[in-house]
Amino acid sequence: MDRFSLCAIFILVLSVCTICSVSNVHAVEPLSTLCSYQYGNYSANSTFENNLKLLLQSLTSNTPITGFNDTSVGNSTAQVYGQALCRGDTNSTECRDCVKIAAQGIMSQCNKSLDALIWYERCQVRYSVMNFFSLMVYTGKYTDSNYPRNVTANPARLYSHWIYMMTNISGEAAFDPSLQMFATGVVNFTASRAIYGLVQCTRDISASDCNSCLRQALGDLRTCCYTREGGMILSRNCNVRFEHYQFYNGPVTSVLTYHYSEGNRWKKWIIVLVLCVLGSVSFVVIGYCAVFFSRRRKDEFDDERSRSALFHDYAAPVGVAITEAGDLVSSDELPFMDLTIVKAATDDFSSSNKLGQGGFGAVYKGVLSDGTEVAVKRLSRKSWQGLEEFKNEVMLIGRLKHRNLVRLIGWGMEGDEKLLIYEFMPNRSLDIFIFDPEKRTELDWRTCYLILDGIARGLVYLHEDSRHKIIHRDLKPSNVLLDCGMEAKISDFGMARIFGEKQITANTKRVVGTYGYMAPEYAMGGHFSVKSDVFSFGVVMLEIISGKRNNGFYLTELAQTLLAYAWKLWQEGKELEFVDPSLLDSGSTSEIVRCVQIGLLCVQEDPADRPTMSEVVTLLGSEMRIPPEPKQPAYSVGRVVPVPDQSSGTGHSANEMTASTIFPR
Ligand SMILES: *[C@@H]1O[C@H](CO)[C@@H](O)[C@H](O)[C@H]1NC(C)=O
Ligand SMILES: *[C@@H]1O[C@H](CO)[C@@H](O)[C@H](O)[C@H]1NC(C)=O
Ligand SMILES: *[C@@H]1O[C@H](CO)[C@@H](O)[C@H](O)[C@H]1NC(C)=O
Ligand SMILES: *[C@@H]1O[C@H](CO)[C@@H](O)[C@H](O)[C@H]1NC(C)=O
Ligand SMILES: *[C@@H]1O[C@H](CO)[C@@H](O)[C@H](O)[C@H]1NC(C)=O
Ligand SMILES: *[C@@H]1O[C@H](CO)[C@@H](O)[C@H](O)[C@H]1NC(C)=O
Ligand SMILES: *[C@@H]1O[C@H](CO)[C@@H](O)[C@H](O)[C@H]1NC(C)=O
Ligand SMILES: *[C@@H]1O[C@H](CO)[C@@H](O)[C@H](O)[C@H]1NC(C)=O
Ligand SMILES: *[C@@H]1O[C@H](CO)[C@@H](O)[C@H](O)[C@H]1NC(C)=O
Repeated sequence: MDRFSLCAIFILVLSVCTICSVSNVHAVEPLSTLCSYQYGNYSANSTFENNLKLLLQSLTSNTPITGFNDTSVGNSTAQVYGQALCRGDTNSTECRDCVKIAAQGIMSQCNKSLDALIWYERCQVRYSVMNFFSLMVYTGKYTDSNYPRNVTANPARLYSHWIYMMTNISGEAAFDPSLQMFATGVVNFTASRAIYGLVQCTRDISASDCNSCLRQALGDLRTCCYTREGGMILSRNCNVRFEHYQFYNGPVTSVLTYHYSEGNRWKKWIIVLVLCVLGSVSFVVIGYCAVFFSRRRKDEFDDERSRSALFHDYAAPVGVAITEAGDLVSSDELPFMDLTIVKAATDDFSSSNKLGQGGFGAVYKGVLSDGTEVAVKRLSRKSWQGLEEFKNEVMLIGRLKHRNLVRLIGWGMEGDEKLLIYEFMPNRSLDIFIFDPEKRTELDWRTCYLILDGIARGLVYLHEDSRHKIIHRDLKPSNVLLDCGMEAKISDFGMARIFGEKQITANTKRVVGTYGYMAPEYAMGGHFSVKSDVFSFGVVMLEIISGKRNNGFYLTELAQTLLAYAWKLWQEGKELEFVDPSLLDSGSTSEIVRCVQIGLLCVQEDPADRPTMSEVVTLLGSEMRIPPEPKQPAYSVGRVVPVPDQSSGTGHSANEMTASTIFPR
């Protein structure tokens, strides 16, 4: 029986239970299981099986002490790593009972699997032949919307209440050490009704990884359950759930009140349009001024220099930048901006100027005293990760100049305040256009094609043309910004890495990125290269063409992932069914089909089979070049990997994951 039918059976069992009694979801049935055969199977009566049994016994007796335990059994020949987590509100008796049942469940459900995870309502148990401790990977999610009933009146109102509460308790769980990565909350909805929420992370990951995991889970919770009265997302390292009844035991971490005000969407849109026009006007005016002044001083400034000269007037000290060693040095290229100036520009970071919230902090719109519009990213104070991401971004993108990369025009740091100042992008990000049914109608095929071409050119510059070889590592539609003319600009370099000239690939223990866009070799093994960016590009390409999200696509019955769906239709010669009908009306069929083919080439399982970004640009640009026939993409079926030979001592050791080695050409 494969994973899919197992899953289907449990979802069926679960929905039967849900129908019988809504509050009686716990007890003995698992909510979900994830048995992975990517590392192969172990054989009966092997040392591994023996160690696994010892491990599960140890977890059963040790987890109830604190509600969480990480243990490994065996030496390098047949080592097994295990982890158990009880829901934060269980007492030791309930915890022991749950882990005990889960330990039996995981053995019977995941027959001979070398890597497995099982979720129950009150606990989760996981083991693997690989060392996964402290490694945050946002995959393996499972959604359940307890209430098949749709919210009829005003889902936006319900959503804004629960997302407010869930975001608050996510922050509490991640950054308040006394809570041990578990928090519950309640928010008043109407006079007689409240919404209850719960979030939890496994305690082996860092606070910022926990925060990032929860944020991604909340994104998926919105996808599945926007119109529902309750729902949950289970993933390897974190869980989130909300209901309209209290499903956990007290005490409650956050009791919140939320004041809902009806947003007016078309009003916002008009404001954006007006700003777009104003932006272009002020740009032209500044351009004239710059030319005027430079003539008067008889100085030959080019556009870049005059703009940076402008910022120098604001700078308290001379311009500063951060070197690769992490030191602060002066630089003409990247102006330092004083905190008071940024505060004045953004109206002291007022919430009305807030454009959005990213993984590492909020983004505000600002207007400098000369009228230039800017986007200010304010890195989260609580995140210790912040400084590293900050240095990374300043160091990297401050030096990059390309029309398809967002321009950093200044930065600021004072105390624990860390600011990045970018050019303002009136059309926000690509995800808003491709996933919103209303805004999608504004996209015709030509625009989509130019956006894809722009992203591809930006990546070629990063991979091949800039002074360094740069891997972005987190390419996704929300990181592609659009200017007034809908030209694509890649942003968010917080996770990017620089490679030396001869370097091809690198490994990392900290897999960061977004599920759905990460290449399999990176998500599973932390192995990244230019080809992992190519994979992400392929996913974005297929999402633009189909108008469907890869993340969360499994919710439909057609196929488990968007990639599998594309592949299925491609093989059957029905690729036009994959394309969003509104694009078919506005573009040439042969060009669109060609793009589906290029997208499939980019998401092939083996990184060596994927084209480079410059090959992609060539294929996009010339009708004459015939793209090769794609092979099966990753994630479309389970991978078959040779069974590790336990007797000859080739089992996996922890070193394979922890080494941060780099393989030269
Ligand atoms: C491992 O076991 C599962 C379940 O019995 C089976 O579906 C799968 O084909 C096996 N894989 C290998 C590589 O033997
Ligand atoms: C494993 O051990 C059990 C009990 O010792 C025995 O009955 C069974 O045949 C063994 N299985 C294999 C595959 O060796
Ligand atoms: C797991 O339990 C063992 C035995 O009680 C203990 O030594 C270890 O510190 C525990 N690990 C964690 C992460 O709590
Ligand atoms: C690993 O453990 C097995 C039995 O537990 C033992 O026979 C073997 O010598 C050990 N290997 C090492 C490298 O310690
Ligand atoms: C644990 O909680 C359960 C139900 O919430 C309760 O019946 C039981 O008495 C509690 N046990 C202890 C030791 O507190
Ligand atoms: C477990 O897998 C083995 C072979 O890997 C097979 O013989 C056995 O029937 C399977 N058991 C179940 C319950 O699927
Ligand atoms: C809920 O809404 C979705 C989408 O609008 C629809 O497909 C589904 O049939 C509705 N379900 C019920 C039970 O009304
Ligand atoms: C959650 O809300 C409480 C009460 O409004 C507030 O004090 C706290 O700072 C908030 N926490 C986060 C992380 O937003
Ligand atoms: C929520 O509403 C209930 C009933 O109106 C009220 O008793 C309670 O104090 C309110 N809680 C908050 C935090 O406003």
